Amino acid sequence: MTATADNPLLSPFPEGWYFVASRQALEKSANLIRKTWMGEEIIVWCDDNSGVCVANAYCPHLGADLGPDVGGCVRDGRLVCPFHGFEYDTGGQCVATPFGPAPKAARLRVYETREIAGLIFAWWGIEGRAPQWHLPAGEPDQTGWSRHHIWISRFPGHPQETTENSVDLAHLTHVHGYDSVSRVDPLEIEGHFLRSRFDFATTRKVAKIARLKLSVEANALIYGLGYSYVEVREVTIGLDMRLWILATPVDGTHIDLTVVSQTGPLLKPDRRIAGLAFLPQRLRPPIINRFMAYFEKRDVLQDVPIWSAKQYRPRPRLSRSEGEIGQYRAYCAQFYSDTSATADCDTTVADQAAAN
Ligand code: FES
Ligand SMILES: [Fe+2]
Repeated sequence: MTATADNPLLSPFPEGWYFVASRQALEKSANLIRKTWMGEEIIVWCDDNSGVCVANAYCPHLGADLGPDVGGCVRDGRLVCPFHGFEYDTGGQCVATPFGPAPKAARLRVYETREIAGLIFAWWGIEGRAPQWHLPAGEPDQTGWSRHHIWISRFPGHPQETTENSVDLAHLTHVHGYDSVSRVDPLEIEGHFLRSRFDFATTRKVAKIARLKLSVEANALIYGLGYSYVEVREVTIGLDMRLWILATPVDGTHIDLTVVSQTGPLLKPDRRIAGLAFLPQRLRPPIINRFMAYFEKRDVLQDVPIWSAKQYRPRPRLSRSEGEIGQYRAYCAQFYSDTSATADCDTTVADQAAAN
């Protein structure tokens, strides 16, 4: 896709908190992961006390790649460079070398991190500036909840476009086949925070035999373009789920869309579900979570071809009922240093409302 006067490209790296890795994946990778994130080569690693460090992947000494493929490793809670053996702590400071005192100036270029429910995020600031706001405080209660199911899809895309789906209710019927989609409250926008609440109904086929009619309340809590957290309640069964939808720019063209789902305890279902009564209570959340994750994946795969091939429309030609998209675009402007691509959207909506 190329930029034109009508179709300026959005800057690929809007400011915010972006997913880096799960604690689970980090532990599976001998506590050190190297990846491309926000157009940068980075490493993510942790020490023996669960301290996490996200840093530029090249050693400040003589520039060696610190990733595990080249020989970087975590030893005794320190990151060890494969070239001359400089050792770093999770603050990024060089604390030892094999042949002399650690140079004070040898410091990794680190990113501010935050961990929520075993999901590790790092702050990406305009021109490297410090965090301007924070992800929600506290940890969601895990009592009786299933483990996370995590699924990652990489495709050409942009986090503003994927997050826009939370306010674009029209596509829920057209792309995903949901029924009775209705907005519950007006969008709530406060600084970097946006809430979108809506209800819908959907029918899920279970193992080609049963049809499960679901009536869902969704409460999408959005903290910038890299962190969408959706509280989902199926009201006829009384089932709670959590979804994290985490869009992370990779290289300026592709994004990684990480979908994390978790299902809550189901002690006394409000309605009978075939087979469920035979399952011990502790097995219900993980099994239901697998089903739900399967459907989430199906929904995302319905969106991916559209996201991958679409053009960004800075002046979308909206219908009168879609004012939320203009509000959303105005909210997004705060995450860019150059707001020209997003700033005139709400005027466009206002113009159109007047013209309709
Ligand atoms: S380049 Fe890393 S210790 Fe020399
Ligand atoms: Fe969608």
